[in-house]
Amino acid sequence: MRKKIVAGNWKMNMNLQDGIALAKELNETLNSNKPNCGVIICTPFIHLASIAQFLNQDVIALGAENCADKEKGAYTGEVSAEMVKSTGAQYVILGHSERRGYYGETPEILKEKVLLALKNGLKVIFCIGESLEEREAGKQNEVVKAELEGSVFNLTAEEFKNIVIAYEPIWAIGTGKTATAEQAEEIHAYIRSIVAEKYGNEVAEETSILYGGSCKASNAPELFAKPDIDGGLIGGASLKAADFMGIIDAWK
Ligand code: PGA
Repeated sequence: MRKKIVAGNWKMNMNLQDGIALAKELNETLNSNKPNCGVIICTPFIHLASIAQFLNQDVIALGAENCADKEKGAYTGEVSAEMVKSTGAQYVILGHSERRGYYGETPEILKEKVLLALKNGLKVIFCIGESLEEREAGKQNEVVKAELEGSVFNLTAEEFKNIVIAYEPIWAIGTGKTATAEQAEEIHAYIRSIVAEKYGNEVAEETSILYGGSCKASNAPELFAKPDIDGGLIGGASLKAADFMGIIDAWK
């Protein structure tokens, strides 16, 4: 049975003190009220080392939101996959539409980042998803397939087992507009079918595919009830413990 996951993506929110306070609250709550799914929080780089000190990662794992596409050296301001790993983090989000859109991350750059993350023992939450324009033109399947082919379908089946896919339609991120559970299930099933074509049924059945985009406690149960939706990647609703817990509890 593939892993069910609820992952938070804090984005560029919360200073160090507020971030530590939120992580402590989640750590305490989840340790006394064990979740029925894997829980991950992905935080800004500067939070990682402090939060790793107290987080019980058997219950709530830690991840970064990005890493560099170079191994090491004269790349001022960049943070390498090895550095992320050395904080105690276990995951990294790559391919988020905000990184692709605002920071010009191409499929080739993302391919390098994925390889470096895996080489350094990080698991990757790899994001894919179409724009509104692409959805309206009926191109969503084409888009997600190209994104997978461009950055992760070069991996061996063994390597691919360290990839969690997050389907995040760009038109649903931070907009309050969620894909319907049916729309999401349709494309999740398609994504699983192309993973199966590439790596076989067994790998596809083991791959966790998360939905992201205005996912919250009120719509999570309906989304998570679909057979090919294995959890969520949560932005806005991961910034308050009660909101995030509401989504985690959707697995109960
Ligand atoms: P949102 O963001 O939940 O705020 O829509 C999701 C994401 O971008 O990962």
